[in-house]
Amino acid sequence: MGTGFPVVRMRRLRRSEPLRRMVRETHLAIEDFIYPLFVTHGHGVKEEIGSLPDNFRWSLDMLVPEVQELARRQIPAVLLFGIPAHKDEMGSGAYDRHGIVQEAVRAIKQAVPEMVVVTDVCLCEYTDHGHCGIVDVKGGGDVLNDPTLELLASTALSHAEAGANMVAPSDMMDGRVAAIRRALDAEGYSHLPIMAYSAKYASAFYGPFREAAGSVPQFGDRKGYQMDPPNVREALREVELDIAEGADIVMVKPALAYLDVISKVKETFRRPVAAYNVSGEYSMVQAAARNGWIDGRRVALEILTGIKRAGADIIISYHAKDVAGWLLEG
Ligand code: PBG
Repeated sequence: MGTGFPVVRMRRLRRSEPLRRMVRETHLAIEDFIYPLFVTHGHGVKEEIGSLPDNFRWSLDMLVPEVQELARRQIPAVLLFGIPAHKDEMGSGAYDRHGIVQEAVRAIKQAVPEMVVVTDVCLCEYTDHGHCGIVDVKGGGDVLNDPTLELLASTALSHAEAGANMVAPSDMMDGRVAAIRRALDAEGYSHLPIMAYSAKYASAFYGPFREAAGSVPQFGDRKGYQMDPPNVREALREVELDIAEGADIVMVKPALAYLDVISKVKETFRRPVAAYNVSGEYSMVQAAARNGWIDGRRVALEILTGIKRAGADIIISYHAKDVAGWLLEG
């Protein structure tokens, strides 16, 4: 029965899995992933984070066997976030040489030297007000840019001294990549790469993370330093500046609602692009899967493949541990 129009047989190459595999354009590999971990004080602590199912706050003694398991699953890298014992106005736990993240780096590098340890560089988990920098209380609660840079540089340096393999500033202060690069170079860490959270948006998708880290801002919000979600031209400018300041890897965060940004960054710059598949993106999938509304595994793999197809070379994801198992099963 003719349609009067020649039928192009696109379906020929979809008839079987081996054929589909042969023409598949995007493949997830475990090497693409960085797995985020939350570290806390104490002993024997493995506390599930309610808003982030199957993710935990780990004390160091429990963290090490977990990282050994991640290494067995061939996950190449972890990204560390710390939950300090005390928070204060200046976020002093962030740059304490024996702070929780610094000690976690030492413990991991000693037990699992092949694991790439990346550290998040920011003050928000360490400040009592929950902002990513020093707050000008008298000046109406503004986050002060330049005084914060010094503290971020000290934080990065303390991570480097502990043995971190890469630092990842997530604060969105202007000039922080340059400040960190300068501090690292001055102390003999010119070999240490910086993965900059370059296009980090003021997103509602960070909700579960803030519960995990106890970093909900006590007043105001982060819109004065994180990017406005509707903007993409501005993201390219942020990335351009971070590269000029010395970023080795640039990141777009979140991922799912920003695939166009990932794609444009990839097209525009010759740098590895990381995408952060953030807490809210993960928890939405978990919640729906637990209700039996979606197939969590298929949805997660579809999302992560989409992030890679958009142009991400590196994907930071809470799904990474599961993905490792799924990829091994084939
Ligand atoms: C710290 C930081 C945040 C995330 C990564 N680093 C929270 C924030 O900016 O509020 C979010 C990660 C996630 O939601 O998974 N500044």
